[in-house]
Parts: sequence; C-alpha cells; structure tokens
Amino acid sequence: MTATPQLDLQNIPKHVAFIMDGNGRWAKNKGQQRLFGHAAGVESVKEIIKTARELGIAYLTMYAFSTENWARPSDEVEGLMNLLVEAISNEVDEMHQKGVRLLTIGDIQGLPGNCYQSLLAATERTKNNRELTLVLALNYSARQEIIQATLKAHELLQSGSISTPELTESQFSSLLNTKDIPDPELLIRTSGECRISNFLLWQLSYTELLFTDTHWPDFRRNEFINAIANYQKRERRFGMVSEQIQPNE
Ligand code: IPE
Ligand code: IPE
Ligand code: MG
Repeated sequence: MTATPQLDLQNIPKHVAFIMDGNGRWAKNKGQQRLFGHAAGVESVKEIIKTARELGIAYLTMYAFSTENWARPSDEVEGLMNLLVEAISNEVDEMHQKGVRLLTIGDIQGLPGNCYQSLLAATERTKNNRELTLVLALNYSARQEIIQATLKAHELLQSGSISTPELTESQFSSLLNTKDIPDPELLIRTSGECRISNFLLWQLSYTELLFTDTHWPDFRRNEFINAIANYQKRERRFGMVSEQIQPNE
C-alpha cells in the first residue's frame, strides 16, 4: 500500500469532475456481466463523496450517462437506469443528513419516468444543503448544452434583454446547465482513455486533466488523494509565464 501524501489544505480544488469509465472492462476482467461493474461503480461514487467531504471539496461532478450511451444494448441501458433509481433511494437519506446537495446537468426529462421523478424528489429535498454539491451528469451532451445556451443567448439578444457587449463569457456561462457552479479545477478520467467524450467542453477550458488506468470500480480514497496531490504539484499558468505566478522563485 502506498503512503497517503500530505495535502496542502490551502490548495484543495473546489470542484473535481469525473469521467467514471471502465465499469464494463472491470467486470469483464472478472468474468462478470457489465452491470456487475456498474453496481461496483456505485460503491466508488460513495467512497469518493465521503473523501471529498473529508477534504472540504465543495463540488463533485460525475459523468454518469451521456446522450451517446443510449446507443448501448437496451438491457445495459435499462440496468443502468434501475441502478440509478436504486442508488438514489438507498442513499438520499444519508446524503441529506450529511449536507449533500444533489444537482443534475443534462436532459433529465428524457430519462425514464421513475428516474426523472426520483431525481426531482432528491434534488428538491436536498436543495438547501451546502456541505458538498454532487452534480450528476445524466443524459448529458456538452455540445447540446452549448447549442441550448446559444439559442437562449439569441433570444435574450432578440428581445433586447441584453445587448451584444453584455454577452460576455460569464453571461454565456450563466446560460449553461452549470449556471452557478464554478468550473472544475481538476478532471479525472479513469480506465485509460485520454478523451473528453462530449463532457463539459466549455467548462474544462482551463481545467487540469488527469488520466489514470485504474478502472472506476477500483478508484477509491487513496487514489483520489494521490490525484489531488498530483494536482497540487502543477503550476496553473492561465497563459502567463512562471515568474508571474511564483514571483519569488
Ligand atoms: C462507465 O463505464 C460507465 C458508463 C459509461 C455508464 P463503461 O460502461 O463505459 O465501461 P467500459 O468503458 O466499457 O469498460
Ligand atoms: C463516457 O464514457 C461517458 C460516461 C462516463 C458516462 P464512455 O465509455 O461512454 O465513453 P467512450 O465511448 O469510450 O468515449
Ligand atoms: Mg467506457
């Protein structure tokens, strides 16, 4: 077991986003069905939420289902939706008790009725919690999100509610699903693929990206802490030069 690194508590990211990938491969490696991997993945989600609370991370965004995932075999899609409803019903009491607020991004009205209803109930119930915000990306497509925001911007301009110079980056951000959620400082994708897969294309402009070969069901507390330690070693320059960031070095 590797030692837990010391973290700089002054430099904990406020928002960490996850592309939770590799459930299927994890299950296959064990000679199991893909859904077995998805169920194990729920345990990782729980452990990551717990760890995030300990570290004082304010926002976690988890990519749980993309618009492209509808193209999977129907029994897998159905199994994932059932797992979502089950996880919410099992966890919502404890989440609420621990001060977790649930938000969603993506077109949740396009999910099966029972998923939609259980998400609505859980988001409503937890809406005043502020310990940690858990954002679930469900039926989410970053390109769709940008198109929708563009259409809203067009309407605002047409109706004269805003003028062209007012359509700033922050105004445009406020038209996205992630309105009021700060951009992630860190994105972690598990399972070896080095791609974004239509996730948070606008919001990730200056996010630190971390790719790990670990499959999502094996991504637990220690690796999360190591990922934060890795993040803390990076110099975020935002287009500037090192001397401007660290003037004394
Ligand atoms: C991620 O694991 C979960 C979802 C996309 C819902 P995958 O199901 O993509 O697992 P792999 O990538 O096939 O191993
Ligand atoms: C991305 O994983 C979507 C989620 C984690 C929900 P995928 O497994 O669907 O991504 P690709 O198809 O490998 O890019
Ligand atoms: Mg995958």
